[in-house]
Amino acid sequence: MASGFKTEIAQWVSQPSRVLVLGSGDGKEALALSGIFPQTLVVSMDLSGPEIQLAVQDSRLRGKMIRGDWDLPPFEPNSFDLVVFFAALHHSVDLTRTLRSVFKILRSGGVLYATHEPMSSALLGVFQRRRMARIAIEEEGIESSPSHYEYTRAISDAGFVSPRIFASGLNLVRLEDSDTTFEDVKVRRNPWPEKLVAKCMMWMRGRGPSKKLSFIFTIQRLAFGLFGVTMVGRKP
Ligand SMILES: C[S@@+](CC[C@H](N)C(=O)[O-])C[C@H]1O[C@@H](n2cnc3c(N)ncnc32)[C@H](O)[C@@H]1O
Repeated sequence: MASGFKTEIAQWVSQPSRVLVLGSGDGKEALALSGIFPQTLVVSMDLSGPEIQLAVQDSRLRGKMIRGDWDLPPFEPNSFDLVVFFAALHHSVDLTRTLRSVFKILRSGGVLYATHEPMSSALLGVFQRRRMARIAIEEEGIESSPSHYEYTRAISDAGFVSPRIFASGLNLVRLEDSDTTFEDVKVRRNPWPEKLVAKCMMWMRGRGPSKKLSFIFTIQRLAFGLFGVTMVGRKP
């Protein structure tokens, strides 16, 4: 999957010199990104002290680990070529505010890349939002499931151009503790929408990957937004 990550990111940025991972958790993304871009400084930032502690203790991780809030990032403007969120942006209290602070610290031409984010669908959004609200209570944190429109609007309002929201191979996988290379990934949650789409995928076997992804994305947009999506935007 490291190569999956590489292929996806390489479409937007070729050789970044500074990359920032926000909501980096225990640092798995930094490990994958340093593997993909060995010359790049990868900085990881998370609000949680224990998560940063875990990352700092992982001797395989290179780069910097910092504790901080993505709404008040302790970096100079125009500091990064790429900012990555992996299953993290939807924990933002205010999507536009968070994206504005990302915009500030990206250099001109820099790229926002958020992947594995949940998205509420057009048809079942109300149920998905309720489900996220339940998860937020259970996990005592912030959870949201913006719609396609809300994501696009927030990315544009923050100043990014060419916002794109799409299904990607990475959306079908989830990193687990044992998986630090993105090579042995597992699906983390398996509730009924995912099961149903998995059945549809079986049915779609034999068709090309882009057909499959468009199919999933259409289903997801209409009804089963929980899979998560990838979104990108560029600072002009
Ligand atoms: C679902 S975890 C994802 C962790 C990691 N990216 C992964 O995929 O394993 C979301 C992370 O976002 C972090 N987070 C939430 N709000 C944040 C904020 N305001 N600033 C920085 N990190 C934040 C949480 O502490 C948590 O580690």
